Amino acid sequence: MFKEPIIVIHGGAGNIPDNRDQPKFDGMLTAIRKAHSVYTDTLSIIDTCQAAVESMEDNEAFNAGRGSVLNLKGEIEMEALIMEGKNMNAGSVTGVRNIAHPIALARKVMDNTPHVFLMGQSANEFATKMKFETVSDDYLMTDAAKIALENFLKMGGSPVTTEIGHGGVGTVGAIGMNVDGHMISCTSTGGITGKMAGRVGDTPVPGAGGYCDNAVGTVSTTGHGDSIMRYCLAQRIMTNLEQGVEPNLAVQNECEKLSTRIGGSAGAIAISKEGTIGIGFSSEKMAWAYLEKGMIHYGIKKGQHFTIGL
Ligand code: GLY
Repeated sequence: MFKEPIIVIHGGAGNIPDNRDQPKFDGMLTAIRKAHSVYTDTLSIIDTCQAAVESMEDNEAFNAGRGSVLNLKGEIEMEALIMEGKNMNAGSVTGVRNIAHPIALARKVMDNTPHVFLMGQSANEFATKMKFETVSDDYLMTDAAKIALENFLKMGGSPVTTEIGHGGVGTVGAIGMNVDGHMISCTSTGGITGKMAGRVGDTPVPGAGGYCDNAVGTVSTTGHGDSIMRYCLAQRIMTNLEQGVEPNLAVQNECEKLSTRIGGSAGAIAISKEGTIGIGFSSEKMAWAYLEKGMIHYGIKKGQHFTIGL
């Protein structure tokens, strides 16, 4: 038994422009406060982590839900993964359009189908069956995302070393552990600016965008998805945790090894089964926050660590 639940979130890794720091801080504080209130009401760590991600999906400071980046055709195709550590159940969606909360759809895949992963139009048909409301492209598509695609195209359309692109937004994730040691991993994204239509990134892939096993720990990743998928970043961090590597070291080392071996950059958050938090990134910045003893801890630059009351 642990004394209190643990909730850790991230709001994207990359070369985030400084004027994006405060909107990300504000969005993460809102998400942590929402998560705390859901935990207080429900004592459900899965509802808590999902609520944190939904809060960031609603906020255009992040590349998920509203604020998602655009593909080469100027469209939004979103992806999400949810995983629970008791039995390693997982639900995942990719290529979904016109819904506000892809993480909620991933949860429905996990809870209401015999499968792990649904894609594209079929995922949207399943959303309709599950009575998800449709939201318009105008709701999801922000000016920042449009400008990011314009800049991407002007610059020749290839600089995708991080997910942040030219809009300064980023993938979101929430991981948590309840007082019984039950763990959850949730991750949601619009992908990377200027991706080909139909491109699948790391986020919805178990072992890349996230992983969760109560016997080991829980992880959510962010960064350049094509690199993260090739490196199986979440799974490599899990292997470190299984070997007893301290979570901060496990996360930092594996993000740096990804950059050295493959060349993209990445960040990740983790909780070990002992309840120790790990936060690290090989990108210039990663937005992160966690809740401990009634205080929210957060930061975005290397070595930065602010605290504020709940
Ligand atoms: N990490 C998000 C993506 O590259 O799709």
